[in-house]
Amino acid sequence: MKVGYAYSQKLIEVADKLPSNVGRASRVQSLINAFGLLDNCDLLEPVECSKQELCAYHDQEFIEYLLNVQNSDSYSEDYEELKELYGLQYDCPEFEGLADYIKLVCGATLSCADYLIINADQPRVSINWTGGRHHAKRASSSGFCYVNDIVLGILRLRTKFDRVMYIDIDLHHGDGVEAAFARSQKVMCLSIHRYDKGFYPGTGNAESVGKGNGEGYTVNIPTKRGLSDQTLQMIFDDIVEPRINLFGPDAIVVCCGCDGLSRDQHGEWNLTMTGIEQAVKRILDFKKPTMLVGGGGYHHPDTARCWTLLTALASGVDSNEFKEIPESDEFFEEYVTDAYQFLVTATANLDDENRAS
Ligand code: FE2
Repeated sequence: MKVGYAYSQKLIEVADKLPSNVGRASRVQSLINAFGLLDNCDLLEPVECSKQELCAYHDQEFIEYLLNVQNSDSYSEDYEELKELYGLQYDCPEFEGLADYIKLVCGATLSCADYLIINADQPRVSINWTGGRHHAKRASSSGFCYVNDIVLGILRLRTKFDRVMYIDIDLHHGDGVEAAFARSQKVMCLSIHRYDKGFYPGTGNAESVGKGNGEGYTVNIPTKRGLSDQTLQMIFDDIVEPRINLFGPDAIVVCCGCDGLSRDQHGEWNLTMTGIEQAVKRILDFKKPTMLVGGGGYHHPDTARCWTLLTALASGVDSNEFKEIPESDEFFEEYVTDAYQFLVTATANLDDENRAS
């Protein structure tokens, strides 16, 4: 399918500043460029989204705070109190360029939604690897996520598409998106994630199935440690594909977080990039208008590899030809530990506890 790809130099610059993933956006973009993948895509240059667009979901005072915090007086009386109220502590520290980051990353996701809307008669794929901030809530930042571009994107898609399905294969529960649509019959949120006592964000047990009229339209698939490619495919066989068939979405949004990869510093899941590729292929095979967004992924070279693979998959480029990291990649030397090989499919020495049950 034809792919719309959200890109501008400024988008990469601001996304590079995200404190949890400093420099990741550059690495992802450089590898995608090195394989020439943008030649096959429609480039979507993101426009900074407006305060009004952010408030389509978020609380206005929260947004005003986020957009102005960098200019505010850190000695003012309520500074600490507001920081706590809006979640700008611990894993969401304020950083230089925060306002630009929020406006452009969300603008990029809205561009991706608009691309699917404009081409609704011919299903397309759109991609924003800087997006996927699935933990942010209506009035607070959380878990490296300042505002929830996914919720904004789904709301925009809903102006054209009646039913939207959200599928989240990031290691962590897609709690922010679920919270936004828990009462909706029009947006089905399905999240596959690691779930355990003390594991962030602590929500997403199998009994959480939506609220009120939305009961039955939230699907949670909690997993144990060591999730393997094989088990992920079984989850797709048994739950994901049947749910897509049953719900019959008019558009799909996928959070493609890579923190479940075997070499991610979390060390919780044991997926390979081909396992993630296969999962996303199964979603794309439904041939619905589909938006792919990023998410977690803290092993930056592997995240760059995986999202490059997914970009090739979506745009119909044969990635079997991708043998070595091209020397034109600005970060070429960071791949030396794997002898510059593109495809890395080694798994960790970690039992798949999901198979024993
Ligand atoms: Fe995550």
